Amino acid sequence: MNYKQKNILNGPNKKLQQLIKVVNKNRSVRKPNKDEPLRVGVDLGTSSIVLTVLDSQNEPLYCTFEYDNAIRDGIIVDFMDSVKILKNLKQQAEQVLERPLITACGAIPPDVDSGSGSKVVTNVIEAAGFSCRQVVAEPTAAAKFLQIKTGTVVDIGGGTTGISVFNNNKLVQIIDEPTGGIHMTLVIAGAYQINSDKAEVIKREHKNEDEIFHIIQPVVEKMAIITKNVMKDKIYEPVIIVGGAINFKDFIPTFSKILGIPAIKPLYPQFVTPLGIAMCDS
Ligand SMILES: Nc1ncnc2c1ncn2[C@@H]1O[C@H](COP(=O)(O)OP(=O)(O)OP(=O)(O)O)[C@@H](O)[C@H]1O
Ligand SMILES: [Mg+2]
Repeated sequence: MNYKQKNILNGPNKKLQQLIKVVNKNRSVRKPNKDEPLRVGVDLGTSSIVLTVLDSQNEPLYCTFEYDNAIRDGIIVDFMDSVKILKNLKQQAEQVLERPLITACGAIPPDVDSGSGSKVVTNVIEAAGFSCRQVVAEPTAAAKFLQIKTGTVVDIGGGTTGISVFNNNKLVQIIDEPTGGIHMTLVIAGAYQINSDKAEVIKREHKNEDEIFHIIQPVVEKMAIITKNVMKDKIYEPVIIVGGAINFKDFIPTFSKILGIPAIKPLYPQFVTPLGIAMCDS
């Protein structure tokens, strides 16, 4: 499929470019009117908690996040800490937007038990002072933001690689494998004989990117092999890769080579799922 020429990511990329101007800058894209409805997304991730606010046209208004380790593979391991952080993010957002935030949406990874998983996420969101409108599956949120009706969305976050296949708006396959950015960090820590906190800093410092990428390449290849196995019966294109762990210039070429078909990525891929979650708050 010649989807590259179709520029399918133009719309999402425009929104991501708007959003990135305000992320953690204590300001908003614009101030909302007193009565206009707002949409709030809460992404309780393995490496951070992200709060996004959209207007009723799904245009980004505000985004803030805080790094945190209160969640592991979609399971909340420190409830009080998650609530404290989210309360704080909510308060910051309300000050900047000069509006109270009433409702919000959350999300869970596809493999987490939807009953108990969404209950815990709802509890965190409500304990932080929101009314939780719904808890959606993370890949469904990502696909909503990317406006993908048919295709494969691969979300590579801190703890997991989630692969979701959509056909005509229906989720036909979901795989969630415990390989993510944390595993890249551990490989770097092993290679340099340093602790994982130091390795995490080095991983994000892009001045050493070529050397670092060489070390983590087998992890990237493993993620691509997992994705290729999911596609062995039928390939649903486009294949769009999102999530914070893919922030390396050689990631997509390496991934595409193993896959045997071109994968594509949006700008600022770690904000795709949080924006999709906010779109569900309506
Ligand atoms: N500039 C960067 N370079 C390399 N890796 C990065 C960069 N920024 C973030 N990461 C990595 O991305 C991962 C976090 O991605 P993301 O925010 O999508 O995860 P999450 O949603 O918190 O986790 P999960 O979806 O697994 O629960 C971390 O492992 C982090 O080290
Ligand atoms: Mg995530």
